[in-house]
Amino acid sequence: MEDVEQLKRENEELKRQLAEYQKSARPRDAVLTSVSPGAAIDEKSALTIIVLGASGDLAKKKTYPVLFSLYLHGLLPPNAIIYGFARSKLDDADFKKQISRHFKKAPEEKVNGFLDRCYYFSGQYNSAESFAELAKAMDEKESAFTSGSQPANRIFYMAIPPSIFLDVAKAIQPAAMSKTGWNRVIVEKPFGHDLDSSRALSSSMSQLFTEDQLYRIDHYLGKEMVQNLMVLRFANSVFEPVWNRNFVSNVIITFKEDIGTEGRGGYFDGNGIIRDVMQNHLIQILALVGMEAPISLSAEDVRDEKVKLLRAVSALTLDDLVIGQYTASPDGKTPGYKEDPGVPQDSVTPTFAAAVLHINNSRWAGTPFILKCGKALNERKAEIRIQFKCPSASLFPNCSAPNELVLRVQPNEAVYMKMLTKKPGLTTALAQSELDLSYKSRFEDLESPDAYERLIFDVIKGDHNLFVRDDELEAAWKIFTPILHQLEKEKIQPDLYEFGSRGPASADKLIADSGYRLTTGYTWPVNRKAQL
Ligand code: BG6
Repeated sequence: MEDVEQLKRENEELKRQLAEYQKSARPRDAVLTSVSPGAAIDEKSALTIIVLGASGDLAKKKTYPVLFSLYLHGLLPPNAIIYGFARSKLDDADFKKQISRHFKKAPEEKVNGFLDRCYYFSGQYNSAESFAELAKAMDEKESAFTSGSQPANRIFYMAIPPSIFLDVAKAIQPAAMSKTGWNRVIVEKPFGHDLDSSRALSSSMSQLFTEDQLYRIDHYLGKEMVQNLMVLRFANSVFEPVWNRNFVSNVIITFKEDIGTEGRGGYFDGNGIIRDVMQNHLIQILALVGMEAPISLSAEDVRDEKVKLLRAVSALTLDDLVIGQYTASPDGKTPGYKEDPGVPQDSVTPTFAAAVLHINNSRWAGTPFILKCGKALNERKAEIRIQFKCPSASLFPNCSAPNELVLRVQPNEAVYMKMLTKKPGLTTALAQSELDLSYKSRFEDLESPDAYERLIFDVIKGDHNLFVRDDELEAAWKIFTPILHQLEKEKIQPDLYEFGSRGPASADKLIADSGYRLTTGYTWPVNRKAQL
């Protein structure tokens, strides 16, 4: 009884601290609001966020810092606590020291205010007893918020490797889920290794949780510019009439990283870039670029349209694919992929892929969608380019530079449309210019939230819009599974490219053959370059 009184007092203190925060915190609701109407935060019930795999890298470097950021912005409900669960034997204090190392800079009292809500529990992942004990500890803490009458809601964040995923799911299902409130389960990729294993995983998960309880994260969906796609397409009238095969010559979606696998090669080798990036992040973007307008912004209506689009994409074939693998940098200073520990010397795992996808529907038939992704390239960049056809009867010969709408996802979010304009002065020459909406110059004081911050906030609100539904996953795997199996069975050799290069030349050829026109001679204005 005394314990309960003590917890109540602690809780009152936490509420007071939080109320102060919320007063002083910058209002971030507008920034964090996703494009869907979403549900509201339930502030009356207790909320426990259970981070499974709490001592691992993902939890320490991503999950906790993002929860801290939500707290700082006053977006963690007042009755929320966080329980870390992992095997390592640590006490609360050690654990708090470990996680706070990765927090963004903040005044000490704010860090402490957040850490006061964090607890650590050491247990076995496959043990129902461990989870029953955890549940007991959570019940106690929650009762201080609910006085036994309000529901206690729980979010289980699976920051654990796929190999123990089902064991944990089976153990938490009977033992640790809330009996009085809702339960939500956040899962991270990989969602299977191919179509069959993904189906098997989905079917096992569906015996434990309803689809409504599951939140499959694809963190690219939480990125500001990916969200902006919906707004650009459907809140403006200029794009939709030309957003089709009659006007768009091709679409290219690019993900480039300027670092290699850096010690993660052993893990990466079992997946490769197609599973790591193309089958999830890039295909999700493709779905948002290509889909029809949903009948509403509700999660199910949006996801219905994405699935319809993905089902119209033909399975990828070898004719439409180039794969690559990086070697050491020309100066020998940066090692090649095979020098990463754990990567077998005969590995044919691609670290680069360029694929041309075909969408068989009336909007897009004949317009190639090119996906390109790679590690150890010349720059870090993610962007979407919609390249338009030349005017059918141009008064100006040589369509030297087609219109191109560019959405830069990162770094420095920007939207710009490459256009032709007359060079000012006594000349009839044309120059390529752009209509520009760089976020940095247009929204000077805006700080884009981390994708994970938005996504976890959406789980708290119960908004499924930015999470991957089981049938989306199935449709995405259908596009890539045959080629993944063929690459593995036939041990197809990737084309080699040097660390820090643009990728294999064969990829540039495939992309050019698909109709993409790389415009040279166009430079981003110098003064703006300085700002970016
Ligand atoms: C992850 C991939 O999903 O996305 C990583 O597994 C990749 O290999 C990462 O580096 C890129 O994410 P971001 O947000 O840094 O572009």
